[in-house]
Amino acid sequence: PMLGVVLVAAGRGERLGAAVPKAFVELRGRTLIEFGIAVATSLPHRGHLVIVVPEQRAAQTLDLIDSIVQPDSSWSVTVVPGGRERHESVSFGIDALPESVNTVLVHDAARPFASAELFERVISEVHRTGDSVVPALPIANTLKRVDAEGIVHETIDRTPLVAVQTPQGFPRETIAAAHATAQLHTDPPTDDAEVVQRAGARVRTVTGEMRAHKLTTPDDLRILEFFLAANVV
Ligand code: CTP
Ligand code: MG
Repeated sequence: PMLGVVLVAAGRGERLGAAVPKAFVELRGRTLIEFGIAVATSLPHRGHLVIVVPEQRAAQTLDLIDSIVQPDSSWSVTVVPGGRERHESVSFGIDALPESVNTVLVHDAARPFASAELFERVISEVHRTGDSVVPALPIANTLKRVDAEGIVHETIDRTPLVAVQTPQGFPRETIAAAHATAQLHTDPPTDDAEVVQRAGARVRTVTGEMRAHKLTTPDDLRILEFFLAANVV
């Protein structure tokens, strides 16, 4: 048995609005994708990492892999081109995993500082339970339902709500079968757990972490830079 990691990095990063796709933006001179490659291939498992990138970034990604992953690593790495929607990119990544992969983690390149401990927490819970697993954090802000004019209609009870992150972990057959059967094109899912939820699978949570924060807007770039400056990561 082998661990599979699908690192999705094929988005355009429209909300960030940088000159390059989001996963190729640099923090302290390293692209986001480099942080993801480094953490995944540092995990003490026999594993295969599939990196899903925009087609025209494949050559650059192969060079980055060569500079990060040692030839004697217990990890093998391949690069595949992404799709129009995130779930399509994930599906292409899963299809590229070797037969012997039995547990799959899907991770956003846009979360460069997710820790090895978080990866291990997700992997352990998948192995312990046989269920799908997502990292989750409580919600601090009060939640309101508003209409298109911004008028508040109600306060939402946040007690049963959590905010979820990646890496998200799955038994391989669960995520592969869900992608094969779920109707995703009319109503695209915003995470991978939603794909297996639509197929009726049970999804569990483990404790997430602040440092797994996702780069979405320019403000998030400031937050990630602060994590580096304050030695949080
Ligand atoms: N992603 C992908 N393929 C897509 C869309 C997204 O691989 N067709 C990846 C992104 O590269 C990112 C992760 O999925 O690492 C999370 O998506 P998101 O934060 O939405 O990134 P983007 O789609 O790039 O950003 P935006 O929605 O602002 O354009
Ligand atoms: Mg997107």
